[in-house]
Amino acid sequence: MTTEPRPEPIEDWTNLLLDRVAVVTGGAGGIGGAISRLFAEHGAIVEVVDTDVDASSSIIDEIAAGGGRATAHHIDVCDHDAVQEMASSVLGRHGSIDILVNNVGDYRPLVRFEDSSPADWDTILLLNLRHVLSVTRAFLPAMRAQRSGCVVNVHSVEAMRGYPGDPVYAAAKAGVAQLTSSMAVRYGRDGIRFNGIGPDLTQTSQVDYLAGYEPDELNWESWAPVGRVGLPEDQARVALFLASDLSGFVTGHNIPVDGGSHAGGGWFFSRADRRFVNRPKGL
Ligand SMILES: NC(=O)c1ccc[n+]([C@@H]2O[C@H](COP(=O)([O-])OP(=O)(O)OC[C@H]3O[C@@H](n4cnc5c(N)ncnc54)[C@H](O)[C@@H]3O)[C@@H](O)[C@H]2O)c1
Repeated sequence: MTTEPRPEPIEDWTNLLLDRVAVVTGGAGGIGGAISRLFAEHGAIVEVVDTDVDASSSIIDEIAAGGGRATAHHIDVCDHDAVQEMASSVLGRHGSIDILVNNVGDYRPLVRFEDSSPADWDTILLLNLRHVLSVTRAFLPAMRAQRSGCVVNVHSVEAMRGYPGDPVYAAAKAGVAQLTSSMAVRYGRDGIRFNGIGPDLTQTSQVDYLAGYEPDELNWESWAPVGRVGLPEDQARVALFLASDLSGFVTGHNIPVDGGSHAGGGWFFSRADRRFVNRPKGL
């Protein structure tokens, strides 16, 4: 008699990443910082990779104070050689890597496409796409050798829709989303899963709704169907799902974590009319 296959049981729901080595790029900032904290709370050994020395120190201290484990690497992920050294250091200390979160990215400096030059394109592509290749390439051999690993790429909701604000940034983010799906198919048989998160509307120093707007300019009921600003923790919870065994049968997907902004594309809730509109009045 054959028995039904069963998934490995989740032993401890409060320690979903117990003793797993997790590298988080940009792991001292807004979304990356929330991911570093939550992963450490769930028992991971977190390797924070960030150029910001002060922010890295404070997150390492905070994690240690909560009984967690974290180490900082102060490198620029756009520096391919520095990435190789960082990977050697992580693998030299732990002998393996279980989770990689490629989270570094920035829309700044924003240069309108009609005014932009090859140097501007290189800057945006390096900061949002090429370094993801460097960091992933650096850890891939170890994941393949151990026949396990999870990669979570934090790109943007702009990877998944037309973005008039900066098509070059959108193209770079879409490159990361497509890399995610393609790598999932290529390396799934090696036991490695790749998934992506497309944030939108999330309060961080890079996208600062608290400082950048007057209160009456904030219109959450129109911008996000859930009716509120996103928090770095909203992103971190999805990253935890994608990095843990909860998502063992999920790979190659890019999930908008956006309060519903992508789903409602083109439709806005009009305060004046108290109804949904998809075009200016009078057309
Ligand atoms: N916040 C949002 O609503 C939003 C929306 C769309 C996409 N994103 C994406 O989410 C990711 C995280 O953004 P965030 O809002 O948390 O930004 P953030 O600026 O708060 O955090 C970015 C972190 O990355 C670090 N960093 C920047 N360049 C680096 C480099 N070259 N090498 C190493 N570290 C570097 C910074 O020091 C900072 O700690 C980015 O890829 C961003 O494009 C965010």
